[in-house]
Amino acid sequence: MSEKKMMWAGRFSKQIDSRVNDFNSSIPFDCRMFEQDIRGSIAHATMLGKQGIIPQEDAQKIIWGLQAIREDIKTGALPIDMEAEDIHMFVEAELTKRIGTAGKRLHTARSRNDQVALDDRMYVADQIDELVPLVKEFVKTLCEKAQENLHTVMPGYTHLQRAQPVTFAHHLMAYAEMLRRDLARLNDTKDRTLEMPLGSGALASTTYPIDRQMVCDLLGFHQITKNSLDGVSDRDFMIELLSTLSILMMHLSRFSEEVVLWCSWEFKFVELDDAYATGSSIMPQKKNPDITELVRGKTGRVYGDLMTLLTMMKGLPLAYNKDMQEDKEAMFDAIDTAKICLVTVIPMVRTMKVLPENMRKAAAKGFINATDCADYLTKKGVAFRDAYKITGQLVALCIQKNTILEELPLEDYRALSEVFEEDIYQAINLNTCVNGRNVPGGPAPQAVQAHIKDVEKFIEK
Ligand code: ARG
Repeated sequence: MSEKKMMWAGRFSKQIDSRVNDFNSSIPFDCRMFEQDIRGSIAHATMLGKQGIIPQEDAQKIIWGLQAIREDIKTGALPIDMEAEDIHMFVEAELTKRIGTAGKRLHTARSRNDQVALDDRMYVADQIDELVPLVKEFVKTLCEKAQENLHTVMPGYTHLQRAQPVTFAHHLMAYAEMLRRDLARLNDTKDRTLEMPLGSGALASTTYPIDRQMVCDLLGFHQITKNSLDGVSDRDFMIELLSTLSILMMHLSRFSEEVVLWCSWEFKFVELDDAYATGSSIMPQKKNPDITELVRGKTGRVYGDLMTLLTMMKGLPLAYNKDMQEDKEAMFDAIDTAKICLVTVIPMVRTMKVLPENMRKAAAKGFINATDCADYLTKKGVAFRDAYKITGQLVALCIQKNTILEELPLEDYRALSEVFEEDIYQAINLNTCVNGRNVPGGPAPQAVQAHIKDVEKFIEK
């Protein structure tokens, strides 16, 4: 920071200590927001000119200057000065360097406090626009895989114990449903994020005749913030995004955990494409599902980012406090993490080979048609609790005889209940069990097909 003067140096008689400058500076990370900062400043300058708060020609000079700076940063012609205090100060200083006095008028009727609140909101909204198509693509991929596996019978689990038969399509579509809620949450978050805070000033708004609605419209925000203290000190929208991303990551993590299980020799329900698996440095036979383990691991990171923001905000008196500069790195990290997880998981799922035979084999063990056996009796007039008990005895008999319900002789059935007839074998056939669950939300191919269509329609919207 040697010879350079801070923009606020007027009141100070000494240069800032270089360690304090480094400590205070946010430019190493908020430089990412240069586009948002410039877009916001262009709208602000346009409004200042139109309201006659600054001369029109100065407003025009500012706009052109900012556009040129944006181009130069993008092309690399203008390197961002890491000695600057933050991206806002850097852009303003560069503008003044280029256009002189007009540049010094840009910050009229504005504070960095409402400026950073605006930039944060624009950044979050822009990132939601990038996250939504990724989540949609993942849902689409799940729908595609489900479409191919409408008839792939697999065991459904509770307590990780084989419970009742479902299909792989049905199982995948459960995740599509979770992600559909994530999409709705992202859209909700975006709506609340697009409240335009400029005009809040440092905390108490301004005496200039500004037109907040104009800035709001220019920037495509939905409405203006309603209280200047809240306008500069609200970070709810960011916390909302991070909690939405935490929930999304929790979903990706549960899915990943299942893929890890499915890849194991104990399950072998799927096999990952070689491009999406990794080997071991010592064990030549290994093919590891590292991607999914990393997604599971990185979920903790995103929760941590959310916790950072919640903790950072919880003790802050109104209005702006410098603590809030800490919002950015946590937000960037959570967004980057969610994005990279989605980008990697999508093609992994798309190329994943499903092994229906193994699923079928697993479904054939574990008596997952026992409920259907009890239902068979119930539908023939036996009270459900009695039917339940009889079926339990049949299962015990099968275990004792080392067989399965499908292969137990009819006389064993009839020994326990005269109600059993030859059609019991049809009733407990796994296909019958799945196809019979043809209620909305059920695993029958017809029901899942309708669900896929519904989700696909939602995604097209
Ligand atoms: N770099 C700051 C931040 O990210 C900008 C706001 C600074 N405002 C202030 N009064 N020091 O929060």
